[in-house]
Amino acid sequence: MSFKITDSVTWVGKRDWELRTFHGEEYSTHRGSTYNSYLVRDEKVALIDTVWSPYDEEFVENLKKEIDLNQIDYIIVNHGEVDHSGALPKLMQEIPDKPIYCTKNAVNSLKGQYHKDWNFNIVKTGDKLSLGSKELIFIEARMLHWPDTMFCYLTGDNILFSNDAFGQHYATEQVYNDLVDQCELYQEAIKYYANILTPFSSFVRDKINEVLSFNLPLNMICTSHGVIWRDNPAQIIEQYLKWADNYQENQITILYDSMWNNTRKMAEAIMAGIIAQDKEVVVKLFNVSRTDKNDIITEVFKSKGILVGSSTINNGILSSIAGILEEIRGLGFRNKKAAAFGSYGWSGQSVKMISEGLKAGGFEVVNEGLKLSWTPDEEALKKCEKFGSQFVNAFK
Ligand code: FEO
Repeated sequence: MSFKITDSVTWVGKRDWELRTFHGEEYSTHRGSTYNSYLVRDEKVALIDTVWSPYDEEFVENLKKEIDLNQIDYIIVNHGEVDHSGALPKLMQEIPDKPIYCTKNAVNSLKGQYHKDWNFNIVKTGDKLSLGSKELIFIEARMLHWPDTMFCYLTGDNILFSNDAFGQHYATEQVYNDLVDQCELYQEAIKYYANILTPFSSFVRDKINEVLSFNLPLNMICTSHGVIWRDNPAQIIEQYLKWADNYQENQITILYDSMWNNTRKMAEAIMAGIIAQDKEVVVKLFNVSRTDKNDIITEVFKSKGILVGSSTINNGILSSIAGILEEIRGLGFRNKKAAAFGSYGWSGQSVKMISEGLKAGGFEVVNEGLKLSWTPDEEALKKCEKFGSQFVNAFK
């Protein structure tokens, strides 16, 4: 299926309602996703991006219903990752000589993935491609989300084709940002930023400021995943600037896993201590082994501080906690405080190991942590409550 966005731009992508994980098993997609591809018709015709490879045949067949493929003059590859370039081999079988416009890094990416010497035309920021009455202006956008990424801007219609940036893994028939459930949209947009773009926040900030400096009028942002931003498209740009600036809310998140519920009891007592000390702060508690890790990361992203707890096992920490610490380390959060806790029976290394993991992840670890042996009794639970209260004081 396809639908018209403006007189000259038609969406020709794919909605993937059944997708439940993305990047292999790395990213949960509770609401599916879309691979947005756009056909731009002026005196010349340009196709912007394709779709993920499992849908390559469907994509090409649908595109044929929309246009004689030979009438496509230019193919724009904003980003070579397979969710956008996956249908390119199938398409290029039909129109093998058509020029592909992309960055130098995208040529490496496409050649590395598909091993084809297509008619590549390398573009840089500020390069323009005339379509007749309108132009496409290219803007390199390194690290949003890969080194090869670029945006393109369509004059006349004033549309920014932003590829991954400003996207969401969110399948919807409603298409536009003003038509969908606003809570769902916000949740998917912040989850996407937290889990995918956090490590590149400095690039996000610099790129947005660069694009804003061009003073281009903006009617719409056509992303490559999720909704098209047509109602006040600047709102997602402003939101990205906030998210890219060491974002935090007045929230403390407690993450734990527990072999025999002792570390869980500690976590709940710590939570009680936080609430007793600060009636305003939002506190959330997650058993890491029973919670989607990307949802946890979204909560960490929103937090000003986190507490991480694990039982000690085999002189170390539980594998779920090791996994989330690695996830957190890779995302490179900044300007957040943390502390560790855990119950043990014999050796008790978990608290020290968690503290080290948090420091490696860029967190300010505010104390040596709290470790308790065996099952916490009333006195031990009071210690946990005090530990929670003291953690709140670290923000004063
Ligand atoms: Fe949607 Fe970086 O690919």
